[in-house]
Amino acid sequence: AEMARRRILEGVLRRGAEAWGYQEVATPLFEELELFTERSGEEIVRGLYDFTDKGGRRLCLRPELTAPTIRMVLGEMSRAPKPLRLYYLGPCYRYEEPQKNRYREFTQFGVEVIGADPREAEAEILGLAGAMLEAAGVPSGKEGGARIRLGHVGFLRHCLKGLPEERRARVFKALDKKQFKLAGEEWKPALAFEAARSFADLEKTLGPNPHTGEIRALREALEPYGVPVEEDPSIVRGLDYYTGPVFEVHVDRLGGQSQVCGGGTYTLRVEGREVTSTGFAFGFDRLLEAARLPPVPSLLVAVVSTPEVRREALRVAGRLRAHVPVLVDINHRPLKAQLGHAHGRGATHAVVLGPREAASGRVTLRDMGGKSQEEMDLEECIRRLGSPRRDSGR
Ligand code: HAM
Repeated sequence: AEMARRRILEGVLRRGAEAWGYQEVATPLFEELELFTERSGEEIVRGLYDFTDKGGRRLCLRPELTAPTIRMVLGEMSRAPKPLRLYYLGPCYRYEEPQKNRYREFTQFGVEVIGADPREAEAEILGLAGAMLEAAGVPSGKEGGARIRLGHVGFLRHCLKGLPEERRARVFKALDKKQFKLAGEEWKPALAFEAARSFADLEKTLGPNPHTGEIRALREALEPYGVPVEEDPSIVRGLDYYTGPVFEVHVDRLGGQSQVCGGGTYTLRVEGREVTSTGFAFGFDRLLEAARLPPVPSLLVAVVSTPEVRREALRVAGRLRAHVPVLVDINHRPLKAQLGHAHGRGATHAVVLGPREAASGRVTLRDMGGKSQEEMDLEECIRRLGSPRRDSGR
């Protein structure tokens, strides 16, 4: 049942991305260590699963998919028409203390937009994230749903301009963990970030900031998408590569690890080239925990038969498989035990074949729930079970 839910959510997210014209990409599970040590930030670097291969190369399991995607784009897709709209789904690895909803192996579903107007790209991916949250049953801004919070690392960096690098890093780190008092010890005005509900508010106390224009432009670009987004200037994100607007999505009822998605605009230097783009990644496992997915009606048919007509039963199973998933007996069980197994596996229907049915070219279709049954020809049986094959989530 757990795997079935994963597949359903996977389908929801893939269909969401594809509906907006995003194309799937895949990158290797391991990468050169350097790809992540340059711009990812202390927390990510500390959590790397790194190793040396037999050729002496320093490698690691990927902790995220943004840097690998950009590396791939620069290597293989540099001539593709811009903007590139890409999505990915795959496992990531971080050596962190495991807790509820924090794992050393977890899955991300993310998107990256490369080569677009930054404000429009940010607005689009926020719109897309909103659509995905809605489809997953945790709509933004609704009771029990998600909250999308918008920050801007450029805004904060500007505020901290006068501070030495080390103290700046400490302020960032404390704000990321919502430790406002600690941040305030390094830089007094940080205390104001706790209550700030908008950048305009903060500007009043901290003085003019060159980035408020970008935030206003983003809010304007975002308006047509109709996705509720709150401003939270204390959102700074744990990764060092962000440069512009950033955002996080929280589902409060998840408790401790409530962040189901994070993203924003970043600048990455890969193999000597610098790329500014924007994207986000859902923590797939966390989103799954929060998701309210519609139950999908799933059919499972067991073709059961007596030994003398087993060959005929296998042919019937072959015909049915074009339309529905089918189980057959491979344990030489008696008919009754085959029905018992079908029941145990949660089969919704059994197609029963005995000598009498086989001789007349007919089958008995049995509803495993209601226990009713009826004899009919195979064509009718296929029609009743419903074709074409039901959507299995993809
Ligand atoms: P991130 O915030 O580090 O951002 O990770 C994205 C999401 O992955 C988080 O919001 C969280 O839901 C999930 N996540 C992170 N660590 C774990 C863990 N140990 N266990 C379970 N879930 C976890 C990034 O990785 C950026 N690459 C996102 C991005 C894409 N920014 C721009 N484009």
